[in-house]
Amino acid sequence: MQFKNVYLGRRSIRKYKDKDIPLATLGEIIDLAGFAPSSGNLQNWKCIVVTDQAKRQQIADACVEQNWMIEAPVFLVICNDHNDVKNHYGKLGRMYSIQNCANFAFGITLVAYDLGLASCWVGAFDNEAVQRILDIPEDIDPEIIITLGYSDETKKPSLREEPSYISYFNNWEKKFTEFPSHLENLKKDIKKKIKRK
Ligand SMILES: Cc1cc2nc3c(=O)[nH]c(=O)nc-3n(C[C@H](O)[C@H](O)[C@H](O)COP(=O)(O)O)c2cc1C
Repeated sequence: MQFKNVYLGRRSIRKYKDKDIPLATLGEIIDLAGFAPSSGNLQNWKCIVVTDQAKRQQIADACVEQNWMIEAPVFLVICNDHNDVKNHYGKLGRMYSIQNCANFAFGITLVAYDLGLASCWVGAFDNEAVQRILDIPEDIDPEIIITLGYSDETKKPSLREEPSYISYFNNWEKKFTEFPSHLENLKKDIKKKIKRK
């Protein structure tokens, strides 16, 4: 798939088909997502693949009872192994270690979408409960949970702020306004394709 279509097409999906994901596909996603940038290339992410139904139920309960999650056949629990990053960067280490994990997680959502899978980033959870459920050591933080599966819903591209609203040129006083119209057309095309489905 063209990169722009992957980027615009990915959505947070909360309804999944009752269909397993081949383990090799999960391996491909984790391997490719690992090419995300990280501070000092420290790659302080770890990824727990959770397929076990009872564990997924316990994790969904720990995610402020987000029961929709259980439909997803796989959870990827991204953990922050932050010690090296803190040793390298001192005060900034905590922030960098989280940013690195976020890059890895976003990579997972994009690679998964390119491989025909849907995902949702879940950030609302009880860290200690997830640590207990998955026997994660005390000094490793579960940071992000990604649900993965085959989508059972169709969604239009997400609503976003106008790019001119969020962009500035050289300083905060001047707006950046050069947004080519071909992107608007691409967004319209994708919407049309989704309507036809
Ligand atoms: C840091 C973060 C935390 C999030 N936590 C949750 C969550 O706990 N539950 C959920 O259903 N979605 C969660 N989301 C997904 C957002 O709701 C979603 O990305 C946003 O509404 C934009 O929609 P889109 O991903 O379909 O473009 C989270 C996203 C991020 C980046």
